[in-house]
Amino acid sequence: MKVCCIGAGYVGGPTCAVMALKCPDIVITLVDKSSERIAQWNSDKLPIYEPGLDEVVKKCRNVNLFFSTDIETAIKEADLIFISVNTPTKTCGNGKGRAADLKYVESAARMIAEIAQSNKIVVEKSTVPVRAAESIMHILRANQKPGIHYDILSNPEFLAEGTAINDLLNADRVLIGGEETPEGHQAVEKLSWIYEHWIPKQNILTTNTWSSELSKLAANAFLAQRISSINSLSAVCEATGADVSEVARAVGLDSRIGSKFLQASVGFGGSCFQKDILNLIYICENLNLPEVAAYWQQVIDMNEYQKRRFSQKIIESLFNTVSDKRIAILGFAFKKNTGDTRETAAITVCQTLLEEGAALDIYDPKVEPEQIIDDLTHPSVTESPEKVKKAVQIHSDPYSAVRATHALVICTEWDEFVDLDFERIYKSMMKPAYIFDGRKILDHERLQQIGFHVQTIGKKY
Ligand code: NAD
Ligand code: UGA
Repeated sequence: MKVCCIGAGYVGGPTCAVMALKCPDIVITLVDKSSERIAQWNSDKLPIYEPGLDEVVKKCRNVNLFFSTDIETAIKEADLIFISVNTPTKTCGNGKGRAADLKYVESAARMIAEIAQSNKIVVEKSTVPVRAAESIMHILRANQKPGIHYDILSNPEFLAEGTAINDLLNADRVLIGGEETPEGHQAVEKLSWIYEHWIPKQNILTTNTWSSELSKLAANAFLAQRISSINSLSAVCEATGADVSEVARAVGLDSRIGSKFLQASVGFGGSCFQKDILNLIYICENLNLPEVAAYWQQVIDMNEYQKRRFSQKIIESLFNTVSDKRIAILGFAFKKNTGDTRETAAITVCQTLLEEGAALDIYDPKVEPEQIIDDLTHPSVTESPEKVKKAVQIHSDPYSAVRATHALVICTEWDEFVDLDFERIYKSMMKPAYIFDGRKILDHERLQQIGFHVQTIGKKY
């Protein structure tokens, strides 16, 4: 069997690498319109950082896993094609700021329709609105060449960045949605056969196409909702003297609730939670279900509130002014073990502090300095990019980042931050020295003994 995947990003890359590793009898070609991305996939420095990914790619690359910009040949030769392109929130037109922009999915479908000379199973791996498969089918069938048959499947991806390889190798479930026709069942079987190389059959769930599409949005909405729920309670904890970690533990030990995804934080980030919930909200509004839309909107509103609340706490603690103060930001990625900064809470924190006149010293072990500058000078973040560039310094080591600063802010829960030499850090900072732990990873009592003023999420000091 030959497989092609259109879109060599955070999903396409790791997914195809693991598939190639586990299916030596399948040849997989990952294509992308970005020649720069493909060149990186073919180099020693892969375009994304993901623990374990380098090893898998090195094992399979040019054996049964190929990275190419020759989209035409890959489509022509493939029996099965994954569409794994980005589906960002629309920035203009109908549904602006809410609906998913399907222009990349549509362009992939049009390419397939134009190039295909034989039957294809087309698999929607990108996260899409419910009934998107119908649009893909419409495009393919309207441009169908005689004798060519298309099957469309939905096969959403549930991997999380930072743990993608493990998530793919040990998926809780694989979800495949297909048409309820004999051809549809056959196509589902073929895709299922690929996953059965390493996923137990009982963990491969088959549903109708629309259930599969909606389940992906629902899973992300549920996960994000847990974070917003615990974050909402973190505000109550700070006002009452309760400790959100103790509350999360007590609540999570109820087996009906479970302990995962109850880590209060500065707010969730990442390319998908907000985008997918907005997508769900837009669908609900269009279905004339305003109460349902408002319910999910609150998950996003609570996240915005949390990011704002934490940023404000920094300013208030620093005597209500950060103007001309140096503040160290440790961690810029949206979570640990990734270099991805899409929708990271660090952007909101930095934006607020910059607007108040602070100078920032930023360190992240995996985010490229250019990425941080791009994020902080984006037109949606500032009207004065030159001013921001002057106020921001990127460091390649945490100790140089904190030197002579008034405060240190943890925005990402990188393990290395836990083991920093805080005595040394304290000595090098301005006094009084403040730590704002937006991830609740540090030993606050020890820090207080050293002399730091400590503020965190969901606990009053
Ligand atoms: P990404 O931006 O990292 O990668 C998408 C790639 O598709 C880009 O390299 C882009 O150049 C390429 N592309 C776009 N249109 C193309 C076309 N017509 N032809 C060839 N290449 C094209 O995006 P991602 O993070 O991998 O996400 C992809 C999809 O998977 C999204 O729908 C997302 O919601 C979903 N998803 C993402 C994650 C995640 O952790 N990032 C997890 C689960 C699902
Ligand atoms: C999330 C889901 O976990 C994946 O299942 C899904 O496939 C993916 O979105 C997607 O569709 O893109 P991801 O965003 O990569 O994965 O990472 P998560 O581990 O879910 O973290 C998201 C954000 O929530 C991060 O900013 C993280 O720090 C934050 N978070 C997570 C918390 O603040 N508290 C928690 O308890 C858990």
